[in-house]
Amino acid sequence: MNTYNITLLRGDGIGPEIVREAVKALDAAAAKFGFALRYTGALIGGIAIDETGEPLPQATIDACKSSDAVLLGAVGGAVGGNKWDLLPPPLRPEAGLLKIRAEMGLFANLRPAVIYGPLRDACPLKPEIVGDRLDLLVVRELTGGIYFGERGREGDAAFDTERYSVPEVERIARVAFDAAMKRGKSPSGRRRVHSVDKANVLETSRLWRETVNKVSADYPEVELIHILVDNTAMQLVRNPKQFDVILTSNMFGDILSDEASQIAGSIGMLASASLGEPGKPGLYEPIHGSAPDIAGQNLANPLATILSAAMLLRYSLNEPAAADAIEKAVETVLESGLRTVDIWTEGCVKLGTDAMGDAVIKALS
Ligand code: IPM
Ligand code: MG
Repeated sequence: MNTYNITLLRGDGIGPEIVREAVKALDAAAAKFGFALRYTGALIGGIAIDETGEPLPQATIDACKSSDAVLLGAVGGAVGGNKWDLLPPPLRPEAGLLKIRAEMGLFANLRPAVIYGPLRDACPLKPEIVGDRLDLLVVRELTGGIYFGERGREGDAAFDTERYSVPEVERIARVAFDAAMKRGKSPSGRRRVHSVDKANVLETSRLWRETVNKVSADYPEVELIHILVDNTAMQLVRNPKQFDVILTSNMFGDILSDEASQIAGSIGMLASASLGEPGKPGLYEPIHGSAPDIAGQNLANPLATILSAAMLLRYSLNEPAAADAIEKAVETVLESGLRTVDIWTEGCVKLGTDAMGDAVIKALS
């Protein structure tokens, strides 16, 4: 029987509760599909600062690198008012997240935005705009750009630097084109990549565009459309059906994936995979934050983390049947009208975090 080693980075706020539910789903899938999972917990974020003085201790880096995959909850405290905000930026919880992405070489962040049929009402867009099915994938570059460029203060000014090299753009572009090939035909009947940039202003974007054009020559079956980021923000709410794969930089991807999450109904539903070179462990996390205001109250929606666990099974453990089964189970649960409070609508049954996890396991077995 295959045994896989998973590092659990529970993190802060609702992190421990949502990871606990995802582990339940992973264990149920393992039992059903005949493989074994071994978990090691490690510290990241605010809790790591409290216990060790730094947001990403070396022991965590070592544990992550030597495992088959990493499942992360969330890091950080309340926005604009938590004890860790007083620390210098490199010692804050978010720095731990950026550092683990860099240390593990996780340059490709896949953020699918899918509307599950039963959640159609939770989407703020009119039904005719969304259509029958919305299923798009944001491919965000994750270890370069302005997030990792030189930054600092000079007198009364501050600066951050956006920098991209050709190899950095090439490898993320390949991930997007490969994903478009695997996703098969989009609703438009074509495999399609929108490459998002600001090439009318930024030199990095002009290099991005040239490089993506070159890579696209290897993917004649994929339609490539270059689009400016401001227009993308508009088109996502005007006509989201035109999108299949959205390829973009670290900063633009951060912003657009939050926008895409709302089209999918709730940020509590969106999973993500962060991947490096083939064969290296990936890191899986919900795209939402640590929601300290509801932490420990059994209110958090665990589905984004459970769906992240499904991505972990698919991309890092190569257990696609188990991944499909978890995704199917989530759909079944939603179809039967069970909801956490963030996605609850009239006529549905309201569940807490743990009961939602139990419902997924029940649907799975
Ligand atoms: C995300 C988050 C992070 C990011 C923060 C917490 C540093 O917003 O994963 O989207 O900006 O990448
Ligand atoms: Mg973000």
